[in-house]
Amino acid sequence: MKSLVEAEALDAADPLRSFRDRFALPKGVIYLDGNSLGALPKSTPTRLQAVAVEEWGQGLIRSWNSHDWVGAGRRVGAKIAPFIGAEPHEVVVADSTSANLYKLLIAAVKAQGQRRTILSEPGNFPTDLYMADGAAWSVGDARVKTVRVADIVDAIDDDVAVVLLTHVHYKSGAMLDMAAITAAAQAKGALVLWDLSHSVGAVPVDLNGCNADLAVGCGYKYLNGGPGAPAFLYVAERHQAVLRSPLSGWFGHAAPFDFGDDYAPAGDIGRFQCGTPPILGIAALEEGIAQFDGVNRAALFAKGRALGDACIALMGEYCPEMELVSPHDAGSRGSHVSFRHPHAYAICQALIDRGVIGDFRAPDVLRLGFAPLYVGFADLWRAVEVLTELLRDGSWDAPHYHARNAVT
Ligand SMILES: Cc1ncc(COP(=O)(O)O)c(C=O)c1O
Repeated sequence: MKSLVEAEALDAADPLRSFRDRFALPKGVIYLDGNSLGALPKSTPTRLQAVAVEEWGQGLIRSWNSHDWVGAGRRVGAKIAPFIGAEPHEVVVADSTSANLYKLLIAAVKAQGQRRTILSEPGNFPTDLYMADGAAWSVGDARVKTVRVADIVDAIDDDVAVVLLTHVHYKSGAMLDMAAITAAAQAKGALVLWDLSHSVGAVPVDLNGCNADLAVGCGYKYLNGGPGAPAFLYVAERHQAVLRSPLSGWFGHAAPFDFGDDYAPAGDIGRFQCGTPPILGIAALEEGIAQFDGVNRAALFAKGRALGDACIALMGEYCPEMELVSPHDAGSRGSHVSFRHPHAYAICQALIDRGVIGDFRAPDVLRLGFAPLYVGFADLWRAVEVLTELLRDGSWDAPHYHARNAVT
């Protein structure tokens, strides 16, 4: 991609171009942070209004049955299944990614006999490591061990119950070989729990094709579910009768409305729900997922890769002081590309000030995310133009760009 004209031609030829109109992106903003918080679908406020005014306001408590509020977790889970190569009855929407990690880690350790180690990588997304720590503490005699991802398979010994990895790394964008790691871990008797937060809706995922055990993921990134959207979890059918959630809330019960005193987990994926589902949040997530209706997934993933490739090429040419952190090869990368610079925070703030929204991850990484549903090649071209300019004139180095916000 050598010019804005060429970028615009790529956009004109993009089979997904019309999907951009489904999103309420602010004028003058180039949004390269859909890997952190997906954009607002135009239809979501209307859906939320209907759920609030009609289903809640008019239907009141009746809507638990008449609008299938009671089945919302399973229903929307089934809609996520095709994005991750799962069967509809293997996915449920519930709680946050953090809570789902906790539930599945403890379920996995408890199902693994004497094995007591949760194995992960240093630098995994913080909540994954923190929840592993909390899960080990809750189990009592379990422990967390971390080794470099390159050494992960070698580190699986007879004590490793479960391997916890993020498929697309939140900071580097590196994508792991799910099939190979899963097979190698299983051959050594371990289960694998994949965090798909930066994968779902952005890259191909084939959980059942990889004979995966367990997975979790976010609803508010590429799935466009809105800030704090409920998350999802996957448990392979073969594990569902054995694994039990430590958060044995009534929505995971086989018959919640029998109001019995004794806990009996549901016989299906529903056992991994806990409390009353957040209906407004799930409705927004369902609307976010509906934006993919009619999308050719192969074209979607190909566009994400092409945008990443073009970004790496343009940055290499115009902003060589930004050091590429992500894999160069698109096959080993998610849909965001990261660059290192000692002043990445200030540079990111200066970009945001000029309408180009990416984000910063400590200590020194600028992330540029390409949600293929609504980011185009001309957006990328303009973003690099803005970055080139502010690197050249040094305008990023103003004191107010160095002052840290609570959220980066
Ligand atoms: C890999 C990964 N896991 C989990 C989370 C967040 O989990 P939660 O929604 O519970 O805050 C994120 C958020 O960015 C993430 O990148």
